[in-house]
Amino acid sequence: MGSRKKLLLGNWKMHKLRKDVPAFMESLLANIGDKNSWSQKLNFGFGVPATLFDVALSTTKNTGVKILAQNCHFEEQGAFTGELSCAMLQECGLHGSIIGHSERRQYYAETNTYVGKKWNSLALKGLLPVICVGESKIEREQNKTFDVVRQQIDDALLQVSEDARKCEFVIAYEPVWAIGTGLTATPEMAQDVHKFIRNELSKHFGATRSGTISILYGGSMNAANAKELLAMPDIDGGLIGGASLKPDEFAKIIKAAL
Ligand code: 13P
Repeated sequence: MGSRKKLLLGNWKMHKLRKDVPAFMESLLANIGDKNSWSQKLNFGFGVPATLFDVALSTTKNTGVKILAQNCHFEEQGAFTGELSCAMLQECGLHGSIIGHSERRQYYAETNTYVGKKWNSLALKGLLPVICVGESKIEREQNKTFDVVRQQIDDALLQVSEDARKCEFVIAYEPVWAIGTGLTATPEMAQDVHKFIRNELSKHFGATRSGTISILYGGSMNAANAKELLAMPDIDGGLIGGASLKPDEFAKIIKAAL
C-alpha cells in the first residue's frame, strides 16, 4: 500500500453567495493555522458553484486550499447551453471537479458513461477528477452495493483513454441513503466498500497504483463522526456537504483528520 495523504473536500452544492466567501475563508484559515501546521498530513478544498470560482480562488491564493468545480462538460466546446468545458475550468485556475455526484445522476440523468467521459476530459486537461459512486437505499437492502459500485467504475472506465488513466484521480464513495440524511455508514460498513473499491481499482490499475489512489467517504460526515471514519485503513478522506458550510465545523473535521 502506498502512502496516502488525507484529503477533505467540502461540497458546497448550491449554497453561498459571493459576499459570503471572504469571511468563510478568513474564519477557517484563522482557525486551523497556516499551511505548515497541516499540509504535511492532509490536503483540503471545496467544490463550489461557478459563480464563486474567482472569489474562492482569490481568497485562498497561496494558502494551499484547493478549489474545484462540482460538474463539467466533456466536450472541448460547442452548442451546450449552460455547460462549462474542462478548458474553461482550467482557464479559471481550478484544481479539478467533482463528477457523477448522486444528485446529478438522480436529477440530471447522468449516466456512468457520461461520468467516464468527464473523467477522461478532466484528466487530459490536468484537472483532478473526483468521481462519486454509491448505492441507493434499495440497492443496499437488496445486497447490490458491490455490483452497483463495480458497474459505476467499470462503465466509466470504458470512456477513459490510456493517457487519461495515467493521471491522478480520486474516488468518493457516497452511499445515496447517507447523503444529507444524518444517517452515516458505520466506519466498518464504509471500510468494506472502500476496500472493495480499492480491489476493483487494482484490477484496472494494478495493486501498486491502487494503493496510492485516494478513496473518500461522503454521506453525513461531520465533526462528531469524522475521526472514527478516517481511522479506517481504506478511508482516505471525506467529501462533505452540510458540515462544510460552516467554517468552525469544517475546521473541526480538519483537526480530526490531523
Ligand atoms: P452531506 O455531508 O450533507 O450528507 O452531503 C454529502 C455529499 O453529498 C457530499 O458530496
